[in-house]
Amino acid sequence: MSMRIQSIRGMHDVLPPASGALRYVEQTMQAVLQQYGYQEIRLPILEHTELFRRSLGTVTDIVEKEMYTFEDRNGDSLTLRPEGTASCVRAALQQGILFRQPVRLWYGGPFFRHERPQKGRYRQFHQLGAETFGLAGPDVDAELIIMCRHMWQRLAILPRASLQINSLGTLQARQRYRAALVEYFRQHERRLDDLEKQRLEANPMRILDSKNPELAEIIGDAPGLTEYLDPESAEHFEGLQSLLDAAGIDYDINPHLVRGLDYYSKTVFEWIVPEQGSQATICAGGRYDGLVEQLGGKPYPAAGFAVGLERIMALLEETWNSDTEIDAYLVLVGDQAVLAGMQLASQLRDHFPSLSVVVNCGGGSIKTQMKRADKSNAKLAIILAEDELRDNTVGIKFLRERREQETIPRDNLVSNLDKYLGA
Ligand code: HAM
Repeated sequence: MSMRIQSIRGMHDVLPPASGALRYVEQTMQAVLQQYGYQEIRLPILEHTELFRRSLGTVTDIVEKEMYTFEDRNGDSLTLRPEGTASCVRAALQQGILFRQPVRLWYGGPFFRHERPQKGRYRQFHQLGAETFGLAGPDVDAELIIMCRHMWQRLAILPRASLQINSLGTLQARQRYRAALVEYFRQHERRLDDLEKQRLEANPMRILDSKNPELAEIIGDAPGLTEYLDPESAEHFEGLQSLLDAAGIDYDINPHLVRGLDYYSKTVFEWIVPEQGSQATICAGGRYDGLVEQLGGKPYPAAGFAVGLERIMALLEETWNSDTEIDAYLVLVGDQAVLAGMQLASQLRDHFPSLSVVVNCGGGSIKTQMKRADKSNAKLAIILAEDELRDNTVGIKFLRERREQETIPRDNLVSNLDKYLGA
């Protein structure tokens, strides 16, 4: 026997009923995005590697070690998208959509990072993200956060989610802060490991994200960015807080929230579910006013977020019920019944566009077919066997309630089906 081929580590098949849960999560969030006037943009899964190097920053985990990068047949360096913001800005510039300002977009689909797989951290995962362009004030930052709250409400996970916010200020403010951090961590240099020492030179703010337990206390005492904010960013941050207060949104200001990507400026935020451990951050985002210019456009304000769908799914795992999605199972005994039953199923589907009807295929006795009907989770079995064919009737058996089986004229089925399904 030849060896079976397995899927790639960290890349998973999504089987039913989880696939149904994923679709439910996506549709619920998309309905909220639509209510706020966001429109979908579909982006390619592959981009030029240079796009991510230039936007995410070269001294970031993603660019240093997590990208799936390869040369294509033309010798071009391509990368499977590790996130969506860079592509969204690339597309907005390339397609000239920034002139239609303000722009509110959303996107979704698979993303790829070569991380160490563990619960909540995968090499192929799904995000749903939103990006806005052309709006500089804290009002749209607040809108993004309020929209997230709306999504958590709809998904019934709001009580478990908490919000952390911070401001990274302007580039100049961050440079001042960076200098203060380097000075601070230099005093503790012997406690830093090799990677952290490298980071001290290249990107000291990344040390704040270190998971090294030895550093927890030092990081806790490190200077916070808030003290180094420029007046404009400070005002923006206060404006955001007033808007969140007015919307009744609780938040914590986390002065060490720096995010792992270089493009952020001013507002950054994360929604976390603390008891989820390694998958605590369900959504992350912020403002990136410098990125459009960095990718070749004019300076242009922008802000957005992305939600990790596997992490939402993990929260729903306990409440997600794999209830039937099938309404009726057609039990068809004998060749004549199959002919009539296929037609009947088509009529039902035409008449009720959202009805799901499974037709028994592969024959079998009535007993076998009834077992299959039951296993399919359908609500009703609609039976066409010898007697029903002769009498022009159908049998209706209720699979999920204690109710007598009925026999009705076949012509009455379409008009009465709602009643039997309890719709
Ligand atoms: P990010 O923090 O890298 O931000 O990812 C956003 C979310 O995606 C995370 O909070 C997490 O829920 C999920 N996620 C990230 N990596 C993985 C993984 N390996 N496995 C499972 N879930 C994961 C961004 O991607 C930014 N583009 C967000 C943004 C949009 N900022 C502004 N606009």
